[in-house]
Amino acid sequence: MSAPTAATRSGHIQVRDLNIGFKANGATVQAVKSASLDVQAGEFVSLIGPSGCGKSTLMNAVAGFTPPDSGVAMLDGKRIDGPGSDRGVVFQQYSLFPWMTVRKNVEFGLKMAHMPPSQRETQARTLLGLAGLLAFENHYPSQLSGGMKQRVGIVRALATSPQVLLMDEPFGALDSQTRTVMQEILTNMWQRLRLSVLFITHDIEEAIFLSDRIYVMTARPGRIKAEIKVPLPRPRTPDMIDTPEFAGLVRSIKKLIREESLAAMDGELRDGGYGGLGMEIGPEGVANVL
Ligand SMILES: Nc1ncnc2c1ncn2[C@@H]1O[C@H](COP(=O)(O)OP(=O)(O)O)[C@@H](O)[C@H]1O
Ligand SMILES: [Mg+2]
Repeated sequence: MSAPTAATRSGHIQVRDLNIGFKANGATVQAVKSASLDVQAGEFVSLIGPSGCGKSTLMNAVAGFTPPDSGVAMLDGKRIDGPGSDRGVVFQQYSLFPWMTVRKNVEFGLKMAHMPPSQRETQARTLLGLAGLLAFENHYPSQLSGGMKQRVGIVRALATSPQVLLMDEPFGALDSQTRTVMQEILTNMWQRLRLSVLFITHDIEEAIFLSDRIYVMTARPGRIKAEIKVPLPRPRTPDMIDTPEFAGLVRSIKKLIREESLAAMDGELRDGGYGGLGMEIGPEGVANVL
């Protein structure tokens, strides 16, 4: 797989005024409200926000799994109305086929796309090499660690040469050391392939280390609250984490997220979730009782 040149590069994601609600027990839960964002072709963008704020719902609309109630998700100006091989998706759970070897897992989508076997093998081996997994091509998923399984998941999502990679908390189930290694591997792979990435995470340092830009979402119903540019140079290296620039970015994002988490708790209190505790909620919301 060769890296696309600037001239051939595409993969511009546009989300405009997206609204998605779910009906549950006769009531509608508004998951995403008037959310708009862009991922430019070849850009790495993270989406961060409190739990339940609609991050996965927004990404599922871009993946084509969840139709919007109104608004639009577009790829290169074309409305997204279903899943497609132009978008690879990686979830937190490794969804590998346990009965297939690593390479067969990676080749699966290519086989479905009727790519001839020798070409499939070359493509799979090139990507497995980039992810440091070539020595494990004939292993079965059960023989791999969690981090390795997730690397196979990423390679599999990349196998069909998508323009866009959608990653929903892909490292959320990994321990922190493995997670750090995975971040480095991912940033190196992205540096080589330069496809557009929309990456969901809870982890502020992870978002900063990986991204060109970060969108912070509000508590549910999720809107885009802020957009933060990450001016750290590329390629990213672990020693950047110790710089004052990095610490400054962590501080400003933490502040935004804290405001949102408090707003979310405030909403729950108002909804009567903790009514039995008899707390008094003042005009500043839950901040008063903390
Ligand atoms: N399929 C669904 N049916 C009903 N409610 C849902 C569904 N998916 C998500 N929700 C609700 O929508 C809100 C946003 O969910 P989600 O997008 O998964 O949040 P996040 O990924 O930010 O944690 C939550 O309140 C969640 O319970
Ligand atoms: Mg989620």
